[in-house]
Amino acid sequence: MSKPLAIGIAGLGTVGAGVANLLRSNAGLIASRAGRPIVVTAVSSRDRNKDRGVPLAGLRWYEDAVALAADPGVDVVVEAIGGSEGPARALVEAALAAGKPVVTANKALLAIHGRALAALAEQKGVTLAFEAAVAGGIPAIKALREGFSGNQIRRVAGILNGTCNYILTEMRIRGLQFAEVLREAQKLGYAEADPAFDIDGIDAAHKLAILAALAFNRPVAFDEVHVEGIREISAVDIAMAEALGFRIKLLGIAEHGEGGVSARVHPCMVPLSAPIARVDGVFNAVVAEGDAVGRVMLEGRGAGGGPTASAVVADLIDIARDRHSPVWGAEQSALSHAPALPMQRHRGAYYLRLMVLDRPGVIADVTAVLRDAAISLESMLQRGRAPGEAVPVVLTTHECEEAAMQAAMSRLAALDCVLEKPALIRIEAL
Ligand code: NAP
Ligand code: HSE
Repeated sequence: MSKPLAIGIAGLGTVGAGVANLLRSNAGLIASRAGRPIVVTAVSSRDRNKDRGVPLAGLRWYEDAVALAADPGVDVVVEAIGGSEGPARALVEAALAAGKPVVTANKALLAIHGRALAALAEQKGVTLAFEAAVAGGIPAIKALREGFSGNQIRRVAGILNGTCNYILTEMRIRGLQFAEVLREAQKLGYAEADPAFDIDGIDAAHKLAILAALAFNRPVAFDEVHVEGIREISAVDIAMAEALGFRIKLLGIAEHGEGGVSARVHPCMVPLSAPIARVDGVFNAVVAEGDAVGRVMLEGRGAGGGPTASAVVADLIDIARDRHSPVWGAEQSALSHAPALPMQRHRGAYYLRLMVLDRPGVIADVTAVLRDAAISLESMLQRGRAPGEAVPVVLTTHECEEAAMQAAMSRLAALDCVLEKPALIRIEAL
C-alpha cells in the first residue's frame, strides 16, 4: 500500500470532530478504498482544553489555523471552521496557494469567494472539494458533477436547510410556535452559528448558488439568488396549506431556460402528492432534472457530525486516489456566461392569505385588484363568520408573472378592508 495521506483538520466542532472520528473508526475500509491509509497528523481549534471526544495525543496542535497550510507533514487541509471570511478563508487560500488540496464543508465561503478560489485551485492544479457543503451526507455534488455529467440539466431544486425543514415540520405536527422549535434546532446542533442564516434563507441560498454553478457550469453567483426565509410563515398558513392539499417547504430552485438562469430561495407550497412534500424534519432533498436521466430525487441527512463526515471522507478518498474534477464541472475557460434572470420575470401560481374585515363587498374589492392586474383566480376559501372583525380569506391563482403579483400585493395591502400585510407563498409543482 502507498504512503499514508496526511490530513490537517482546522476546526474540531461538529464537522471536524466527526471527520477525525470517522477516519479512526472506519480506518481499515477507508484505507482499502483509498488505496492507502488516511491519517490525521495535525489539528487546529481555539480551545485546546475542550473535550471533543477526539484523542489528540500524537497530533500537532496549531493555535493559528493558517499555519496548517505550511506544515510539511500535512498533505491535505480540511477546513471545518466556518464563515466566509477570517481564518477559514485565509487557510483555504494559503493551502491552495501552497499547492495543497483542500476539503471544506463551508458553503458560505464557496458561495461568496468560490469564483476566486476555483480560479486559484485551477491555476495551482489542486483539488478544492466540498461535498459536505451542500445537503450534508447526500452526495449531491458528485451526482451533479459526475453522475449526471452527460445531461443538460434544466432544473435543480431542493430542501437545502435542515433547520428550516425541522421548524416547519414541528410547527405542523406538534402545533408549536416558530421560536420554540428554533431553540430546539439550535440545541440539536442543526443551526448555523448565527441562526438568522438558516431562518432567513441565506444558508439555503449559499447551497443553491453552489448547486446552480455545478448544474449549469457557470461561476458561482450568490448575489444573483433571490432570498426569502421562513420568519413570516404562520400556523394559519400551515393549516390552510394542508386544507388545500399542499405542504409548506423552504425550497431552493435554480432553472436554466431560454433567456438565462434563475435562482431563488423562498417558502413554497408543494402538492402533498409530490415526493419532496414528504421529506420531513432535519432531512434534506435534492431534485435534479436532466434531459437524459429525467427527474431524480436524493434524500438524506443534511446536517450533523456523521453525515458531514461521510461527505468529507468521500472527498478525501477521491484525493487519495487522484480523482480530480474541475470545481464547477468544467475548466474556467469553458464556463457558461448565460445571463441571470431577475425574480420579477418569474412565472408561477400563488397562494395569498388576506386578513380582511368580515363585511359585505370585501371579496369584490379584492377580486377587482386581481382582475385589474390580469391575475386569474384558481380557488378561494373563506370560512367562519365574525361580523366587523378580521377573518382569513385564502386565494390561489393560476400562473402569472411575479411583477404583476407584487404590484397587486401592494394594492391589496392598501385596501382599507385588509387589516394585515397579506401573506404570499409561491406554489411549485416539483
Ligand atoms: P462548530 O461546531 O461551531 O465548529 C467550529 C470549529 O471551528 C470549533 O471547533 C472552533 O473551535 C473552531 N474555530 C473557530 N475559530 C477558529 C480559529 N480561528 N482557528 C481554529 N479553529 C477555530 O461548526 P460546525 O457545525 O462544525 O461547522 C463547520 C463548518 O461546516 C461551517 O462552515 C458549517 O457551515 C459547515 N457545515 C456544518 C454542518 C453541520 O451539520 N454542523 C453541515 C454542513 C456544513 P473551538 O471548538 O475551540 O471553539
Ligand atoms: N444549518 C444547516 C442546516 C447545517 O440547518 O441545514 C447544514 O448545512
